[in-house]
Amino acid sequence: MTRHFLRDDDLGPDEQAEVLALAAEMKHAPHQRQPLAGPLTVATIYDKPTLRTQASFSSGIAELGGHSMLVDGRLAGIGERESVADVARVLGRQASAIVWRTFAQSSLDEMAAHAGVPVVNALTDDFHPCQLLADLLTLQEHRGALAGQTVAFVGDGASNMGNSWVLAGATAGMHVRIGAPQGYLPGGAAAARAEELAATTGGSITLTHDAHEAVAGVDAVVTDTWVSMGKEGESEARTTTFSPYAVTEELFGEAADDALFLHCLPAYRGKEVAAGVIDGPRSVVWDEAENRRHAQKAILAWLLGQG
Ligand code: NVA
Repeated sequence: MTRHFLRDDDLGPDEQAEVLALAAEMKHAPHQRQPLAGPLTVATIYDKPTLRTQASFSSGIAELGGHSMLVDGRLAGIGERESVADVARVLGRQASAIVWRTFAQSSLDEMAAHAGVPVVNALTDDFHPCQLLADLLTLQEHRGALAGQTVAFVGDGASNMGNSWVLAGATAGMHVRIGAPQGYLPGGAAAARAEELAATTGGSITLTHDAHEAVAGVDAVVTDTWVSMGKEGESEARTTTFSPYAVTEELFGEAADDALFLHCLPAYRGKEVAAGVIDGPRSVVWDEAENRRHAQKAILAWLLGQG
């Protein structure tokens, strides 16, 4: 059966660990495994802005021996000129895998249902699972075993990053705290699924509206932009709503003395994070950005190996 990576819990705990181990191995020996040698083609589609994702998939696919084919979603008119299902059937005949950044999770699900090749979520409104693999790889490199580590995500917990943190963190057996304003905690379905997973892995999920409670003593503090792609019209209102959740030097100081700082980028200094934190000695944001490549190579190789 073709496997896909549409949301973080598409990988079970053992599978997540396997993919992270493969990513670490690939980081040390970037050209050793080449499942796309030929070259085989991976179709990549970006319906929202991108820097890290496009760059890391392109370079990663090249390191896997393959060819990265950029499909212009606007030219193709996905879902307008042709149905998602028909686009999936066509691309599945040209490419060995499909990587798609888009809006609705349901569109991605439809692509996966009809492609016949692995489909990878390169960010939707609901989840950003490739970023989470990179973040977990980064924490594993800096701090060792993930199980038992405590992480606080403060800011827009209802965003793709908030949802992905509870799912991926619970899968890894971590203690994930989300500190977010009323109305901005992770979606009910994602939170319930994360609770279920945490009960099997020894992890835990804590949802709070108090940023200080979220951050107290944690091993890592994570945030993200307050204005996700597609929410630009709410920019002013969001800045007011989220300002008590800014990762200032004071708030970061309430985490463990050696706590790390993570951010998927792009970052807005002086808004969700102070320059002194993101540019400070405990920030690992550039490692996260690099690790996108290693993590995405690993998930592509792993999915292709399952078919
Ligand atoms: N939550 C952000 C993540 C950017 C990588 C967004 O969706 O814009």
